[in-house]
Order: sequence, then C-alpha cells, then structure tokens
Amino acid sequence: MKLTGNTVFITGGGSGIGRGIAEALHNTGNKVIISGRRKSLLDEVTTANPGMGSLKLDIENASSIASASQTLIERYPDLNVVFNNAGIMQFDDAAGAIDENLLTSTITTNLLGPIRLTSALIEHLKKQKEAAVLYTTSWLAFTPFALTAVYCSTKAALHSYALSQRYKLRGTSVRVIEIVPPWTQTDMLNSTEEPRAIPLQECLDETMRLLGTDVDEVVLDRAKQLRNNVGPNEHPYVIEFNNWLLGVE
Ligand SMILES: NC(=O)c1ccc[n+]([C@@H]2O[C@H](COP(=O)([O-])OP(=O)(O)OC[C@H]3O[C@@H](n4cnc5c(N)ncnc54)[C@H](OP(=O)(O)O)[C@@H]3O)[C@@H](O)[C@H]2O)c1
Repeated sequence: MKLTGNTVFITGGGSGIGRGIAEALHNTGNKVIISGRRKSLLDEVTTANPGMGSLKLDIENASSIASASQTLIERYPDLNVVFNNAGIMQFDDAAGAIDENLLTSTITTNLLGPIRLTSALIEHLKKQKEAAVLYTTSWLAFTPFALTAVYCSTKAALHSYALSQRYKLRGTSVRVIEIVPPWTQTDMLNSTEEPRAIPLQECLDETMRLLGTDVDEVVLDRAKQLRNNVGPNEHPYVIEFNNWLLGVE
C-alpha cells in the first residue's frame, strides 16, 4: 500500500507492534490516530510524537466502538486506513474446562472487535479514493500453539474473515491487508526478553518494507513456514511445532 498521505486509525497503538507501526507511519508522512484502553500509554506515545492523535477505545465494548467510529468520521473526514491491531493472548487448557471470562474476552477482543470496527467504518472507507483495512493476525492463525487454543482460533477466524472481505471488496477502493507476525518481543505473554521471539525492531522493519509493496498478506520471514502449513494431514506438523515450543524431544 501507499505509505504516505494516509489518515490511519490503529487499535492497540499504545504499545508493542501497534505503537511501532504507528510511529513508523507517523514518520513517513501519515496522519496517525492511535487507540487503546490505557490513556496513560496513549498520552505517552502522542507526547513523544507531536501531531499524532489518540482516541480511547475499548474494542471489547460494542458501544465504545460505535461512538469512537462516529467521533473518528467527524474529527478525521479523510480517514482512509483502519488498522485492527489490538489483541490479547492468554494461556488456556483445551484439554480441560475453559475459563468463561478468558473465552469471551479473547473472542470479543480479537474477533468481534475488529469485525465490528471495520463494519462501522466500511461505508466511510468506500467513499475514499484509496483505502485499506488491515488486520494483525498471527503465524499461529495457520499452525496453533496448543497452550493458547482460544487465541489461535480467533486469529484463524480473523484470517478467514479477511479473505471473505477481500473478495467482497474486490473492484472497490478498499484493500484488505493481513499482517502475519511471528513471535515478537513485546509485552504479549511477557515476551520482551524471549530469545525465541524476533526483536520488535526487526518485526517493524520487515512489516513496513512489505507493507510498502502490493502484497495482500504481509507474512514475515519467520512466519512463512507456519503460513505455508502442509494442508491435509497437518497434525504431525502441529505436533512438531508444539514440541519445539515446549522443549519436548
Ligand atoms: N507479540 C507477538 O508475538 C505477536 C505475534 C503475532 C501476532 N501478534 C499480534 O499483534 C498484535 C499486537 O500485539 P503486541 O505483540 O504488540 O502486544 P501488546 O503490546 O500487548 O499490544 C496489544 C495492544 O492491544 C490493546 N488492547 C488489548 N485489549 C484491548 C481492548 N479491549 N480495547 C482496546 N485495545 C486493546 C492494548 O492496549 P490497552 O491494554 O491499553 O487497551 C495493547 O496496546 C495483537 O493482535 C497480537 O495478537 C503478536
């Protein structure tokens, strides 16, 4: 996609990958509006990046999405890029009872939220000359990590939704782009020091480079093997990947 001259709304822009992409887009000549629940984080990022805007939003809450979308359209009529990046990841136990709060909050945040936000803004985006909807899914959308089964299922579902939406929006001004990061050193699962995860800066550099091309899926190098999942008879591959993550011989 074109990396300058956009008006970009990004969820989860107060930390990690979202903050990094927001800052990179801010520095390459875009109007960027970040959002999240923690106002202190949003303020920290906008203070460090004069000219960047922010809007408090709880993506779990349908009425928060509806009012934020209305505010966005009124305040930023040039809005042409909606970047669904916010997400949560928690350990669960697919072999046992799933905690009800974990289940509903993960599905609401990671799947219903992006669908609701995009749905609220899509008619506005269609009126723009060039527009885009972006989704941060995960390499785990394609090969699951069994200890975060609910999380992986939301990312697989979001990937599927993006495919349908891209099909439906063909021939319009709106592109649908999926970002597929591998394990990256952020606060997610306390991974800032995790040696098996890629450094945040590496994730951001590769994402921005690929985002500047015309690909529909920004698949980072480390995520390619999982993205190219073997297809039928995939279970041995899932076992191999999970044994690697869990250090099982
Ligand atoms: N790090 C990885 O290894 C990795 C790999 C693949 C994909 N991803 C995906 O990348 C995206 C960004 O994650 P990250 O690694 O950068 O972790 P992060 O620093 O924890 O970022 C997650 C962001 O989502 C926001 N968020 C969570 N719940 C929200 C809610 N209800 N309403 C609004 N905002 C909410 C958080 O802000 P508040 O808490 O302030 O609301 C936070 O800024 C996620 O979708 C994640 O699934 C991460």
